[in-house]
Amino acid sequence: MNYQHHLFICTNQKSEVGKDVAKALKKELKKQDLKSLLIGGKKRKNRVQAVGCMDVCKHCKKGHGAAVVVYPEAVWYGDVQPRDVADIVHEHLGQGRPVKRLLIEK
Ligand code: FES
Repeated sequence: MNYQHHLFICTNQKSEVGKDVAKALKKELKKQDLKSLLIGGKKRKNRVQAVGCMDVCKHCKKGHGAAVVVYPEAVWYGDVQPRDVADIVHEHLGQGRPVKRLLIEK
């Protein structure tokens, strides 16, 4: 199965914020009915995957939230809190518009 979007969330913080963000993303995908989609007759999934450090620690371990990268666009978000995930799911995954206030340079 091909992924529509594949999201990687850093869970390398002591605060557990990355794990909370990953859980919130999975919950929000279900809530907004974007966990799997039918596109051109093919089933596509939006997948959330917890990972280790992605070398943007200034916006992750040393910041207030977690680093998140969304493929295939390779859009990087930093300092993401669980309260931000509804916007990522709705704006980015649903509407195709990255959430500007969370963007970081990689
Ligand atoms: S600890 Fe999260 S990017 Fe390094």
